[in-house]
Amino acid sequence: MKIAVVFDTPHPDWDDADYRKEMAEGKVEEAEYDVAQALIQNDHEVRLVGIKDDVRPMVDRLAAFEPALVFNCCESFRGSAQLEYGVAAVLEMHGWRHTGATPTGLLVARNKSMSKKILKHHGIRVPEFATFHPGDPFLRPSTLRFPLIVKPLLEDASIGIAQASVVADDAGLAERVAFIHDKFQQAAIAEELIDGRELYVGVVGNNKLEVLPIVELHFGKLSRAERRIATYKAKWDEEYRDRHHIRSGFARLSEAVRAKIRDVCDAAFHSLWLQDYGRLDLRLTHDHEVYVLEVNPNPFIAYGHELANAAEKAGMNYKALIQRIVDEAGRR
Ligand SMILES: Nc1ncnc2c1ncn2[C@@H]1O[C@H](COP(=O)(O)OP(=O)(O)O)[C@@H](O)[C@H]1O
Ligand SMILES: [Mg+2]
Repeated sequence: MKIAVVFDTPHPDWDDADYRKEMAEGKVEEAEYDVAQALIQNDHEVRLVGIKDDVRPMVDRLAAFEPALVFNCCESFRGSAQLEYGVAAVLEMHGWRHTGATPTGLLVARNKSMSKKILKHHGIRVPEFATFHPGDPFLRPSTLRFPLIVKPLLEDASIGIAQASVVADDAGLAERVAFIHDKFQQAAIAEELIDGRELYVGVVGNNKLEVLPIVELHFGKLSRAERRIATYKAKWDEEYRDRHHIRSGFARLSEAVRAKIRDVCDAAFHSLWLQDYGRLDLRLTHDHEVYVLEVNPNPFIAYGHELANAAEKAGMNYKALIQRIVDEAGRR
């Protein structure tokens, strides 16, 4: 099959051959190269198409190649993750079938308020929350109970999330909200902090969704004063992770809890217009309630990382996982 891999890149002027050269040199760990390699191993005719701040080169390259499918690995446009949905929209406007979520799915999942409203509408448990837009008067709904966790409304990858994100009173809330407005130039969302186990659930499929082995983040040796949350440091700073013994592993859960998680993930996946694959971030409370913290329509699918490892554990090696996503997109 002719498949184009579309991704955001600092080298928008590069052609397929340039990317392949870099890919062969193996200098960078990029999900799109792993995906392209797996597609080539699956005997597809593959073109790598980068995009940065102009859609025209991508459109021209795709028009010349005429792919049967676009594997969409694009996470941002013009350096903005908020415009991620736009690339999928352009693909759809040209009638190119693509893997992964619809533009609606990408747009809604990124908005931590809109997505929670929709999940709640579908009877899925989410933390109570309030949003604070720059310039609006500061008003905390009295039903919202401390401690709260304050996050940028539209980011991901734990950007803007630190131990200081958890606040215990109105003064702390006002201060952190002002920090988010100032630093990220966007609204803040304050959510009730859900105490419990941190679970990440990779999924593949559409009508019939396959839930991959569930990953748990263990917080290890945080001090008593520290909150057990996946801060930016806890996610990305290897030295910090080692020092605090933060590590992930496959979760040990009872069959009843697994079944509950499967149902929640299935409902959340479909209510937020996801397609083909995704990852759900959950909290499991001590009394076995499942909360959806967020739904990721475009999770990191590099070789050797969380989703790929979960698929591997389910008996689907990387090559098979990427082919499965292609097949799922083809069947829709
Ligand atoms: N309401 C909450 N209750 C408990 N922990 C939370 C809550 N919201 C976020 N967190 C913690 O912060 C992490 C990142 O939050 P998340 O909403 O998934 O944002 P991101 O899109 O940056 O991943 C979560 O994985 C979790 O550890
Ligand atoms: Mg998350």
